[in-house]
Amino acid sequence: MSSQEDFFHPVIELPETTRKARYDRLVGLDAVKRQLRKEAILLSDPERLHTWARRHHPEADPAALQLFADRAPLFVFAGDVGSGKSALAESFGCDLSEQLDLPVYLYRLKLATRGSGLVGEMTALISDAFSFLYSEGRRARNARGVSSVLILVVDEADALVQSREAQQMHHEDRAGVDAFLAGVDSLAGARLPVLVVLCTNRVGALDPAVMRRAAATFTFARPDSEQRRAVLAQALHGISVRADTLDKLVELTGPTVDRPGYTFSDLTQRLIPAAVLQAFPDGPVRDEHLLTLANELAPSPVFTEGA
Ligand SMILES: Nc1ncnc2c1ncn2[C@@H]1O[C@H](COP(=O)(O)OP(=O)(O)OP(=O)(O)O)[C@@H](O)[C@H]1O
Ligand SMILES: [Mg+2]
Repeated sequence: MSSQEDFFHPVIELPETTRKARYDRLVGLDAVKRQLRKEAILLSDPERLHTWARRHHPEADPAALQLFADRAPLFVFAGDVGSGKSALAESFGCDLSEQLDLPVYLYRLKLATRGSGLVGEMTALISDAFSFLYSEGRRARNARGVSSVLILVVDEADALVQSREAQQMHHEDRAGVDAFLAGVDSLAGARLPVLVVLCTNRVGALDPAVMRRAAATFTFARPDSEQRRAVLAQALHGISVRADTLDKLVELTGPTVDRPGYTFSDLTQRLIPAAVLQAFPDGPVRDEHLLTLANELAPSPVFTEGA
């Protein structure tokens, strides 16, 4: 029998200052954040839906409620590299915690256990992880309602839940998909405060059976000019750059005929840090540093399916 440390990274209790700040700093995801908040609130605490129905549909218990509650508590975050999937998956629990006024526990599945040898090992770990969450979820829900919410993040999930149709797929991996599906199904309709978020670059490679179960799929993309401006302005806060420099940076980091635009992470983890590094230790970050770097740095290549 495996123990919790075998399949989860250390559990994090939310809200937590760093992650809350990260959530707030995510630009251009307001619509996603809003929908995610509603879905997460209702999946964690379905009683709220009944309260809503009693108020707005007092004539009868609408059939729609049952359908809504029977869905699997699974969200798929899909899309381009460096676009905030992991950052949002690991931080939206802070918002949820505030909304529900409850602690939220963040569990991150260790996929590194993958391929570590023994046949059946990954499958067993996935099953154990879900059984663990199921029993913790039951403890978090009692007669008086919900006392905490558990979020499981399965990051870089492509390998785990790749289409079962994929030709080269190893038998062991197929068993992994099946274990994941069984785990998600065990939560569907169980009305437990357990949410599962799956992050992937390769939405096309995900098993259709996994996609079908998702309560919601969110797609993440590269920033448009307005979003690049917002991220740059935020990142350059406290460093005085000219207004026209910001305009030029927004333009330079956009798509051209022969390359895509910068990703969010190209801006936050490459361009700005590179400018700081260049300036250090002799002087301040100058507009010229930023402009030269934006001219030189190549954006991350677009992730292509099947690569
Ligand atoms: N919407 C955003 N607004 C502001 N910063 C962002 C946004 N998206 C990403 N970033 C920045 O990029 C960093 C990397 O993002 P993240 O790790 O969430 O990307 P990802 O979508 O998971 O990418 P990958 O597919 O490569 O795992 C974040 O820590 C943050 O600094
Ligand atoms: Mg990621």
